[in-house]
Amino acid sequence: MKRSVILDVDTGVDDSIAIVLALTLPQLDVKAITTVSGNVHVDEVTESTKTVLGLVNHAGIRLGKGSSASLRRTRFHAPEVHGSDGLGNIRKKYEQYKARIRTERAVPLILDILKNTKKTVTIIATGPLTNIARAIQKDKRRMRHVREIISMGGTFGYRGNTGPLAEFNYYVDPDAVDVVLHSGIPLTIVPLNVTETVRLRRNDVIQWSRKSNTSVSRFIADVTRFYMDYHKKVESFNGGYMHDPLTVTIAAVPEIVKKRIKSPILIETRGIYAAGTTLTRDARGSEKKAPIVSRIAEIDRRMFWDIFRNVLFSSSG
Ligand code: BDR
Ligand code: CA
Repeated sequence: MKRSVILDVDTGVDDSIAIVLALTLPQLDVKAITTVSGNVHVDEVTESTKTVLGLVNHAGIRLGKGSSASLRRTRFHAPEVHGSDGLGNIRKKYEQYKARIRTERAVPLILDILKNTKKTVTIIATGPLTNIARAIQKDKRRMRHVREIISMGGTFGYRGNTGPLAEFNYYVDPDAVDVVLHSGIPLTIVPLNVTETVRLRRNDVIQWSRKSNTSVSRFIADVTRFYMDYHKKVESFNGGYMHDPLTVTIAAVPEIVKKRIKSPILIETRGIYAAGTTLTRDARGSEKKAPIVSRIAEIDRRMFWDIFRNVLFSSSG
């Protein structure tokens, strides 16, 4: 049976690939997509998401435009990583695909899907958790029907990618993470220390897309160029992390998870240097009242790349 999901995105180069995966993987039934400010402003995120949806012929899907700003903190974006359009500055080239979709508002859309879907719904969040937190603030009872929130964010026993200690999504809106952590809704975190183990290499993209040559494989080659240039310059590897595609794959194929840890988790919401930092056990037990949350600690990388390649670089399409 397919898993019903809502995908909440801040498109984003890796989000754009995650959207294609989610709409193609046979295990998932995407009920709606909602957008949020993150990598770029929500206006850009929404336009870019429409382009991706048109590319994969999903103009019929329900799309909800969400929060433009975090719950409390000042806006923060990453155009140097994802381009000013969130698609590595290639949206214009794909303008012809842009789906004409009437956008709804994200929070009412999420609540409506929960109200009208008989099966339980999972939320996959690949951006800051602002929309999800606002939905909880609006109608906590209804949000309790969510089967699981699978959220890409945080970092454990590892460095950050936005400041020394924080991961981008959780840095952008730590207060939203706090609301989700304390909501009682089952939460699975897919943290940076795991997502950075999946690196898409430029050479692989070139080789695979040459063989496949579909609109999707051409798009992936195009959309990742700017992102990979950034990683080459700043992280010294010729490729890009597949944070969000991994998160979607975990929702579709849970067998990919090799190790999961359940522990108390807190988030620093107010720090000057450490806002957005995720904290787990400390020696003094000060986390005792913290919510118990599950996080992914290890995945089967070979399985991930098999799925990734088969779905996105097939020889027809
Ligand atoms: C996360 O932040 C964004 O740059 C990516 O899209 C991903 O969701 C990684 O820290
Ligand atoms: Ca993202």
